[in-house]
Amino acid sequence: MPKVGTDLTTVRPGDGFHPSMIRRRGQRNVAAMNDSDVQYAPMTVADYEAVSALWRVTPGLGLGASDAREPIGRYLERNPGSSFVARIAGEVVGAVLCGHDGRRGYLHHLAVAVRCRGRGVGRQPA
Ligand SMILES: CC(C)(COP(=O)(O)OP(=O)(O)OC[C@H]1O[C@@H](n2cnc3c(N)ncnc32)[C@H](O)[C@@H]1OP(=O)(O)O)[C@@H](O)C(=O)NCCC(=O)NCCS
Repeated sequence: MPKVGTDLTTVRPGDGFHPSMIRRRGQRNVAAMNDSDVQYAPMTVADYEAVSALWRVTPGLGLGASDAREPIGRYLERNPGSSFVARIAGEVVGAVLCGHDGRRGYLHHLAVAVRCRGRGVGRQPA
């Protein structure tokens, strides 16, 4: 992957370019939000409506029958404490489903509200 600061005209397909490389390493797009504004908590089925609403408005995130309330509740029961929500002032602005099959771990449906992106919410270890 090219280093931060690389002349972008020299980057070729397959070099692993991502727009984040335009920023200096460690620099954050912090406009109106402090890290302390964001609260992280394990997801419970009580979060379902808010999380489902976030997923539905997240472009590129496909939802299916297994994303209905009941199967998500079963998933959360089977993988307790592994899935998380991020909230600002009580409102869910981020979510991720995490589980395992006894051997491999999986992340599903990682989403951060568009207005809160680029500020470290997705990266934060809860
Ligand atoms: C991907 C997503 C969750 C990132 O959330 P975020 O809060 O904006 O991310 P952060 O600010 O914590 O950035 C974390 C890192 O991921 C990188 N990143 C962000 N979006 C990315 C993307 N679409 N592809 C690759 N890397 C990405 C950031 O550049 C950052 O890297 P850096 O720390 O080295 O600069 C958010 O863009 C999103 O909800 N996207 C739509 C849903 C999606 O694509 N989900 C993943 C597949 S299910």
